[in-house]
Amino acid sequence: MRVILLGPPGAGKGTQAQFITEKYNIPQISTGDMLRSAVKAGSDLGLKVKDIMASGGLVSDDIIIALVKERIQQPDCAGGFLFDGFPRTIPQAQALVDAGVPIEHVVEISVDDEQIVARLSGRRVHEDSGRVYHIEHNPPKTRGLDDETQEPLIQRPDDTEETVRNRLNIYHSQTKPLVEFYQGLAATESNALTFSTVNGLGGLEDVQARLVSALT
Ligand code: AP5
Repeated sequence: MRVILLGPPGAGKGTQAQFITEKYNIPQISTGDMLRSAVKAGSDLGLKVKDIMASGGLVSDDIIIALVKERIQQPDCAGGFLFDGFPRTIPQAQALVDAGVPIEHVVEISVDDEQIVARLSGRRVHEDSGRVYHIEHNPPKTRGLDDETQEPLIQRPDDTEETVRNRLNIYHSQTKPLVEFYQGLAATESNALTFSTVNGLGGLEDVQARLVSALT
């Protein structure tokens, strides 16, 4: 199964990706996690993207498309994958079409902006794995520590209110047009792709159930 999770920053893409990838036994491809690993490693790519990410801007399409094309050639992607945070612009989505990468389901998780600002201020992450928590809605078993490794959780540098609002503006101008792009593809008779929007508000399990029905 090849799935794209669309949605604004903080909609719950990473949280729900953890559940979907386990349920359907497919790898999660998070361009955000890949870029954060490069920043942490201090690689050439990391140095190039560090400031853009910290300000909430988008990394260039060329860099992202090359990164994803290489990732989906790896053997663990043979049976499908879940894209989390990719594509984020029309050129990125068009590059997938041009490369003949067939996608079965595109699911948009919808959450309004004010709710997102509140969610992201309480988010904590395990830096190495990308596992996501929330201090109130999805707390770790031990405060401040990752459930699996017991390592300390961090707050992402781009989760300040000012940066979150910048990320939301960019989402509305550059990523939201993908909804129409994929609705158009889904309406084409020759395309086996489905497009759905699910409400991202409510408990984690309620959102999970909505996603499962969108994927069946
Ligand atoms: P990326 O890491 O992709 O960030 P994002 O898309 O902004 O998404 P987030 O990770 O912030 O949110 P999420 O939807 O995964 O929410 P989460 O599950 O954590 O990208 C970071 C940066 O990298 C970009 O700004 C850009 O610079 C660059 N980049 C990445 N991909 C790129 C691309 N393709 N092109 C160009 N640049 C790119 O949930 C958020 C919080 O809410 C958590 O605390 C969670 O516990 C909580 N929560 C989740 N569900 C619920 C619920 N139902 N109720 C209450 N709380 C909930």
